[in-house]
Amino acid sequence: MIVPVTVPKAELHCHIEGAAPPTLVKRLAEQHGIDLSHVLNGNGKFIWSDFSSFLKAYDAASAVFKTPSDYALLSETYFRMLAAEGAIYGEIFISPDHAQAAGLSYRSYVEGLAAGMERAKTDTAIEGRMIAIGVRHFGAAAVERVVKDVIGNPHPLVTGFGLAGDERSGHPANFAKAFRMASEAGLGTTAHAGEFAGPESIVAALEFLRVKRIGHGVRAIEDKDLVRRLAEEGVVLEVCPGSNIALGVYTHLRFHPVNILRREGVKITINSDDPPFFGTTLGREYASVADTFGWSFDDLMSVTRTAIEAAFCDPATKNRLLVRLDSAAR
Ligand code: ADE
Ligand code: ZN
Repeated sequence: MIVPVTVPKAELHCHIEGAAPPTLVKRLAEQHGIDLSHVLNGNGKFIWSDFSSFLKAYDAASAVFKTPSDYALLSETYFRMLAAEGAIYGEIFISPDHAQAAGLSYRSYVEGLAAGMERAKTDTAIEGRMIAIGVRHFGAAAVERVVKDVIGNPHPLVTGFGLAGDERSGHPANFAKAFRMASEAGLGTTAHAGEFAGPESIVAALEFLRVKRIGHGVRAIEDKDLVRRLAEEGVVLEVCPGSNIALGVYTHLRFHPVNILRREGVKITINSDDPPFFGTTLGREYASVADTFGWSFDDLMSVTRTAIEAAFCDPATKNRLLVRLDSAAR
């Protein structure tokens, strides 16, 4: 089954630097005189072989975005691509640490991204929000600095706080303070867990970070009691099937647990993570799960509904999005 553009889609899990089209990265690298030949090959493909080298390639590609207008171009490009695939809503993970490494303040980073999102929205009506992430392998102090920046420079489109980076480093307890600050400031919260680490990492994220959304979370499948708990507590998983295959968490989509988790009553959303790095797009993710597991139009509509209900946006925006979704129902 090909998923038509007419299935409205919503995305909760995409790293904006990881969504940069190779052509745009190459053009900006040339403009800023940056040599990227070690991470971008002549065919316009990012070069990496495992999670650690992926994170390095991601860092290198991020370094070409140096000005607010570079970031505006990136977010405008991504949101236009999303809208062209039928998405009505997208949340992007933004990484103030990467912007800072490229010489940009938190405020100019966010303003650049917001300008691009507004331009895309004017033409396509796509709604968007930003989730500022701390990078866990940079340590607790860096993660707390991010949340302080977010709280100290409020922006209407920055509505969430999250934790990404190398899951194999740093116990969630180290980040409890940052997440408490974020929750008290009214930000929605999410954390990567259960991608490279096992189900215990999800339990720890729920206990120490008090999140209601988990980035990936698919390795919950290894613990029956945890699957039941996720279903009972209505925890939402930001599942990124193509990313998991590309990074070797599962060998084939047919062995991916997304279908079983959904059947067990866990709230599932479908996302692209770092699309050009993993040779995917949000539309392709919807299409491949529908093809592989026989999901119907109504199944995909319910995936989008789950995403909108779990979105980090205000109730009025949510209602508008749900009306748009319902108007596509048949
Ligand atoms: N940063 C960018 N992509 C990521 C992923 N899939 N997991 C953890 N951190 C990331
Ligand atoms: Zn991710």
